[in-house]
Amino acid sequence: MLTYLILQNPGHNRVYYNLADKLALAELQLASLRMEVSSTNIRIVDIAAVRYLAMDCDRELSEADLQIISRLSFVFALFQLDESAGKQRLMPIAASAYQYVDDKISSLLKYQGKTNELFTKMMVNVALLSSNFKYDETINLLDPVAGKGTTLFESSVYGFNSYGIEIEPKSVQEATLFFKKYIETERYKHKADKRMISGKSKADAIYIQEFEYARDKEEFKSESLRKKLAFVNGNTNDAANYFKSNFFNLIVGDLPYGIAHGNTGVKKTGSITRNPSELLELCLPGWNTVLKKGGCIVLAWNSFVVSKHRLTGHFNDNGFEVLSEAPYDQFEHMVDKSIKRDIVVARKI
Ligand SMILES: C[S@@+](CC[C@H](N)C(=O)[O-])C[C@H]1O[C@@H](n2cnc3c(N)ncnc32)[C@H](O)[C@@H]1O
Repeated sequence: MLTYLILQNPGHNRVYYNLADKLALAELQLASLRMEVSSTNIRIVDIAAVRYLAMDCDRELSEADLQIISRLSFVFALFQLDESAGKQRLMPIAASAYQYVDDKISSLLKYQGKTNELFTKMMVNVALLSSNFKYDETINLLDPVAGKGTTLFESSVYGFNSYGIEIEPKSVQEATLFFKKYIETERYKHKADKRMISGKSKADAIYIQEFEYARDKEEFKSESLRKKLAFVNGNTNDAANYFKSNFFNLIVGDLPYGIAHGNTGVKKTGSITRNPSELLELCLPGWNTVLKKGGCIVLAWNSFVVSKHRLTGHFNDNGFEVLSEAPYDQFEHMVDKSIKRDIVVARKI
């Protein structure tokens, strides 16, 4: 039996206060189900007053396992524990290189209402690990409430094709400008396109701003190797008008918190709703249409505003299975006095 230790990213505690261990254990448990080696006893250990996540494995981690572990949101350093001759020694193991775009991309823009990058990365991992898909497949990801794009940028780090819908024109403008500058500065080969994707006239036109990019000329020549990142400046209620059916593998987003920056989805009554439950009721039919079978939705919301039970009801009514068994019940955590954040994970059946 081999024991592996993971030192957590020091930023992790800042994001989740003292609940970082709980969330990291949950993410690692989901990852372990996808690993080739069989792992048991996933836990926290204290060695010389330093805390690590630990797991026992029946044999050495494979390259594919290292690829999965290296992507986890909390991983800072990985070691194998050697306890021979009555001593404890930590043998460092190099992380796998997986970044298509450097992960600094999602920490460069700073603004009020931004979703934390590590938390976002965790949601993307939970979505992929809970779906029927693998990291190395062609993955199309949608953030239906994209803000200024944290999810899209984290998703592009993994080399996924990343699409966002955002109702605020200013957010879309800032995010697309930022991404354009980023790929220019980092010298990606790219092209940009803005086109109408919905509406009958200029007055009700909805536009998509799409970037196609690749690391070099050769990759750019190949349609299948080119990556995409796009923003639709529109209403997420209309997702099925903007994208083809069964187009997305994953849907990941941070729902409006119903507090500082409420959702602006217009209710059937014509009034503005700030409640994530009402937004889901309106949007889930469309999101279901654009998601592939076996695809997964992960959404963060403020559980002070609406219960998980209520959200689960909307998912069940719309052809989704909500994953609620452990470790899916371990993600709730306080963000501040008015926000208790949780995630709901649902698979299209
Ligand atoms: C919590 S913020 C997301 C922040 C984002 N993850 C980021 O880091 O920039 C939720 C976003 O949903 C957007 N939104 C609310 N209702 C919407 C709707 N009906 N259609 C599209 N976007 C909507 C808001 O404008 C806001 O930008």
